[in-house]
Amino acid sequence: MILVTGGAGFIGSNFVIDWLGQVGEALVNLDKLTYAGNLANLAGLAGDARHRFVRGDIADRALVEKLFAEHRPRAVVHFAAESHVDRSIHGPGAFVKTNVLGTFELLEAARGWWEGLARDEKAAFRFVHVSTDEVYGALGESDPAFTEASPYAPNSPYSASKAGSDHLVRAYHHTYGFPALTTNCSNNYGPFQFPEKLIPLMIANALDARPLPVYGDGRQVRDWLYVGDHCAAVRRVLEAGAPGETYNIGGDAERRNIDVVHAICDALERLKPRAGGYRTFITYVADRPGHDRRYAMDATKIRTRLGWAPRETFQTGLAQTIRWYLDNAAWVEQVRSGEYGRWIETNYAARGSEAQA
Ligand code: NAD
Ligand code: TYD
Repeated sequence: MILVTGGAGFIGSNFVIDWLGQVGEALVNLDKLTYAGNLANLAGLAGDARHRFVRGDIADRALVEKLFAEHRPRAVVHFAAESHVDRSIHGPGAFVKTNVLGTFELLEAARGWWEGLARDEKAAFRFVHVSTDEVYGALGESDPAFTEASPYAPNSPYSASKAGSDHLVRAYHHTYGFPALTTNCSNNYGPFQFPEKLIPLMIANALDARPLPVYGDGRQVRDWLYVGDHCAAVRRVLEAGAPGETYNIGGDAERRNIDVVHAICDALERLKPRAGGYRTFITYVADRPGHDRRYAMDATKIRTRLGWAPRETFQTGLAQTIRWYLDNAAWVEQVRSGEYGRWIETNYAARGSEAQA
């Protein structure tokens, strides 16, 4: 039995499905079901006794302690977080609460549980903390990619709160010998991603003939990884990673945002042709404050020490993702019927449109 946090979100739900398919071991899925959590992502597991869903907050230590006592998990995989940079700019409080304080409460509950275990169980226990490349700050155009030795320099409230959680995890290993491992991954994309993030937002807007809002000059660079490859990496770190270590995960697929948007438009044009094409919807809008110019991950350590490598290229992963959104219009509609409209108004109304591409 393992305990997964945030397993109703984008990466967490992909992980839960992947885990039950690949490993088959039962899991408890603790998720608060914020706007980003969606039980529809897990509908395919209905009736599967290996999946126990619990709605709750990682910051609720009594609840987490109860879950440890009841289910005796051998490991924790910690995805739960507030995860969107733009939301962190509009409201940083929730990021500090969940990412810093929530991770602290979860660590305390896990440490208490781990300390009480018998020798063998204690030696085998693992806590995998899932984090981001954004904790390292921004790279210049020709800088080498981030390694595990790159200094932390978070620039947004989101990345600062994730950096805070990474530091706590590090300290718990250093101080208490707590068997924690941290993964820092680049930008993910794939099925079940909430359409506030670049790729699903652009797909959903293009299909609705709405503007495709590119921030600033669109030349910021992200290193894209298909979510299934991230899930496999986390599984591998849990299986074979060394406690106290951190592992950078990346797709070796750096792309400028504008090139990503063009690729989406062109793929849609092939799959669902439209008079005038989709690129006409591209609209340059005001930039994100403090926008990091470039992220890139050097994943040599996880490749060489743990034998992990991504299976998908950006082309194959993007094609699968677009196909998934085309086939799952009802999922997008359901997601958009919630508080989504208010967020789109908050984030985009004041940006205006600066030019038509
Ligand atoms: P997401 O926003 O889609 O999902 C987060 C999930 O956590 C949601 O289901 C939400 O309900 C749950 N949650 C939020 N606060 C909670 C709380 N206090 N208690 C319990 N559950 C809570 O995020 P995601 O994109 O799936 O990211 C998952 C993790 O991976 C995060 O830790 C994120 O920092 C990290 N990460 C994401 C990316 C990416 O590109 N999306 C890249 C690298 C790392
Ligand atoms: P996002 O998906 O929010 O991930 P992150 O900020 O964590 O990297 O954004 C990816 C890139 O796309 C980032 O450089 C900001 C840019 N972007 C846009 O240009 N327009 C948008 O509407 C969004 C949501 C993002």
